Amino acid sequence: MNLRSGRLKGKMSNDAAVFTSSLEFDRRIFKADILCNQAHTTMLKNQGIISPQDADRILAALNELQIEGICALDMDPSVEDIHMAVENYVTAKIGESAGFMHTGKSRNDQVATDLRLALKEEIEEILTDLLKCIQIILDKAYDHRETVMVGYTHLQHAQPTTFAHYILSYAQALKRDYERLKDAYKRVDMSPLGSAALTTTSFPINREMTRELLGFNQLLENSIDAVSSRDFMAETVFSLVLLTSTLSKICEEMILWSTYEFGMIEISNKFSSTSSIMPQKKNPDVAEVARAKTAAVQGELMTILTILKSLPQSYNRDLQEVTPHMWNAVDTSHLMLNITREMLFTAEFKQERGKELAQGNFSTATELADLMVREKNLPFRIAHQIVGRTVTKALDNGIKPKEIDTQFLDEISLELIGKPLKLNEELVKKALDPYNVIKTRKIIGGPSPEVVKEAISKLRDFIEFESK
Ligand code: ARG
Repeated sequence: MNLRSGRLKGKMSNDAAVFTSSLEFDRRIFKADILCNQAHTTMLKNQGIISPQDADRILAALNELQIEGICALDMDPSVEDIHMAVENYVTAKIGESAGFMHTGKSRNDQVATDLRLALKEEIEEILTDLLKCIQIILDKAYDHRETVMVGYTHLQHAQPTTFAHYILSYAQALKRDYERLKDAYKRVDMSPLGSAALTTTSFPINREMTRELLGFNQLLENSIDAVSSRDFMAETVFSLVLLTSTLSKICEEMILWSTYEFGMIEISNKFSSTSSIMPQKKNPDVAEVARAKTAAVQGELMTILTILKSLPQSYNRDLQEVTPHMWNAVDTSHLMLNITREMLFTAEFKQERGKELAQGNFSTATELADLMVREKNLPFRIAHQIVGRTVTKALDNGIKPKEIDTQFLDEISLELIGKPLKLNEELVKKALDPYNVIKTRKIIGGPSPEVVKEAISKLRDFIEFESK
């Protein structure tokens, strides 16, 4: 059946047909399109809008197509889109009565329905894989509750922490990414079907019935809004942009930490390449590519927002052009999630190096100042000044952090505040020891191993709850 023959003379130019066809990316909604037609036809039958005989023949043909798969369809660009290809298939099977399938339905509500159905499935899979990713981080964190490393601000040594505490920060960010995507899902999970072209129909269709048959949680009520809205795509892609940003940050740190200079992790050979000229090289190509692909996901969001920004309400063919950008964002994000998870899982943290860095460059200075506040009731600003001067003097004289003692501190305090501090030697040593400092940071969210254990257990509860 040629859709054009009623209104238009002759065929569309071949170039124009190729230019405007959505068939290539419509493959993604093939399954959903059959489901949509099945639900609509079942509803038409139930409402007595079409005869049971016609409905059953249509449904039988759709079932056959479901079994045969997309290869049974004529996907020539002149067919325009998957909806026409499916209708043509049913017509070829049962003849003209296939046309009843389209009663009270437009491709406008149909495509919106299909996209939502297909996207729901993709989001569900990403959410499941995201939980797996968080789980892997938790397992790794559990094993490294006592593994000391230095934390950075401005990428300069700041304060000691543990590898567990550090990677739990990723887990928390990924949890929010999960929650954000799950929230977006709510607005994907709405049925536009029954809106027809834009103002519904005078046939007594039952929108609630198709909603339920297709497993949507709610109706998109206003029929003009229902065929117009693609905010569900923009919102999903935005959530993916933030997810891939988190993943990209993880990749960035893996790249940095695997350098000779940091030497903090060893990325598995499975996720590394070498050089065609430099035989010694081990390059973190996978993490680099993942970092770069984040830009593509962000770009897709900009493209989508820009297509949508000033469209008139209801259906415009521009809407079709949003679709491939959304799928690209979905696929790229999903691949990135799984590969980053495996890369993190198989990477090895170098414990000795972690300790060496935490001890080597005054990362415990804040604790030493805190000790002066606690023991000698010095205002923090004064203590800050004394320790700052201590570090400068130690660096000038090649003195290591662990060589600092009370005598050294007293000389400086005499100079700055006119009296020696006379701190307890043992307390000074403790304040300068990274592991000791970590143990005392028992505030909620902090690095002490017991607090970290608590945080891991809370996140495990979250995963268990979400996996139900
Ligand atoms: N291929 C179209 C899309 O993806 C399907 C809807 C076509 N509707 C129309 N009135 N031309 O948006």
